Amino acid sequence: MDIFKIEGPVKLEGKIEISGSKNAALPIMAAALLAPGKTTIKGTPYLADIVVMANLLSSLGATVQRNDNFDISIDTSNIDNPVGDYEIVRKMRAGICILGPLLARCGKATVSMPGGCAIGDRPVDIHLRGLRELGAEIHLENGNIVATAPNGLTGKKLFLGGPFGSTVLGTANILMAATLAKGQTVIESAACEPEISDLANCLNKMGAKITGIGSPRLIVQGVNQLKPVEYKVIGDRVEAGTFMIAAAITSGKLELTNCCLDGMGAVVDRLEKIGVTVEPNNGGCFVWQNGPVKPADITTQPYPGFPTDLQAQFMALLALADGNSVITEKIFPDRFMHVAELNRMAANLRKEGPSVIIVGVKNLVAAPVMASDLRASAALVLAAMAAKGTTVINRVYHIDRGYEKIEQKLNAVGAKISREKI
Ligand code: EPU
Repeated sequence: MDIFKIEGPVKLEGKIEISGSKNAALPIMAAALLAPGKTTIKGTPYLADIVVMANLLSSLGATVQRNDNFDISIDTSNIDNPVGDYEIVRKMRAGICILGPLLARCGKATVSMPGGCAIGDRPVDIHLRGLRELGAEIHLENGNIVATAPNGLTGKKLFLGGPFGSTVLGTANILMAATLAKGQTVIESAACEPEISDLANCLNKMGAKITGIGSPRLIVQGVNQLKPVEYKVIGDRVEAGTFMIAAAITSGKLELTNCCLDGMGAVVDRLEKIGVTVEPNNGGCFVWQNGPVKPADITTQPYPGFPTDLQAQFMALLALADGNSVITEKIFPDRFMHVAELNRMAANLRKEGPSVIIVGVKNLVAAPVMASDLRASAALVLAAMAAKGTTVINRVYHIDRGYEKIEQKLNAVGAKISREKI
């Protein structure tokens, strides 16, 4: 198992290129199932989760290849085994988004029911409700979702909201299924995340007829077939946000390239409140901290609200604020595994239901800590770069799921991170 040893404090200065978005690439890879032939997805990050999705698609009968430019080609000419096996799907919840495309393409699919994970329960009831509305028959058998569409799928007006608002992968699943359904589908309360817009744009390039992209009302006119395409995924706004905080927490200055600020309004708003400057520059930006870190209150919400995927990283920054802040988690109310670990580094955080009260401290102190999930681990890396001493982060495989070459990228701008095997 790999660990990180991180020496701090450091001041980061220089340029970082943001990778392609993991959460855009994963459903787009699944979308390749809809179009028999070879789809090429450009700019995909080289990450553990992408490898899992590639293995999942291969297990269905696809041929998946990666070239030196980080493009992935997925040949789906022969999909002869529409079964998402537990041994693969259990490694990554995004595996669920093969369900809609398989059903649309093959008329049947069996996909292992994903379990909970470190950030909470994560049910898939809304995915199943949406597919049933399109005419699928679905039951559970031996821990598997068994879905059939004996008469094909038929478009319908449906509502996809749930207790926590819209669902990102649920929207992806229904949207993909609806592209090949008969007639018109209207998805109300669709997720508006930029990753869903990227998927919709890719599907349209494949020949789908989707309008309302970027809004909570997606309208899909079903078509008979889709064609394979070449498509480039958007930059990763969560990686970008993480590196913006890296600049701020180390009192440094970074230039981020391949970083589209368009989808980052709520993040930039909170950074500015904290005293961070984000200056647009040629498809990217410069980021630096002005003076002390100011306190700020944050509530996570579906897009265009503040993203849950940056909640932990902002907590690391606000732990060093000159005053008190409150972070409230409204998407995954249990997503606070990082609180205890940051407190081990001398932060002063107190969980109160779905909120955390953050009493700013002057310094963080290095400690051995445990990575618990992807974004919580990123928060520990950020805290460690600001803390005095050597922090040891265990279980860094969580970070490898979503941050491409994180130690190389950060070391190139002044961090001192070494990866060791234990
Ligand atoms: N929900 C339901 N029923 C469902 C689906 C979702 O109640 O059928 C609830 C969830 O429990 C949660 C809320 O709805 O409370 C929103 O969950 P959503 O379905 O939007 O999450 P997801 O699609 O499973 C994606 C990202 C997550 C990100 C969330 C929220 C991917 C691969 N995953 O998950 O990313 O946190 O949207 O924005 O796109 C990460 O990258 O670290 C990560 C966890």
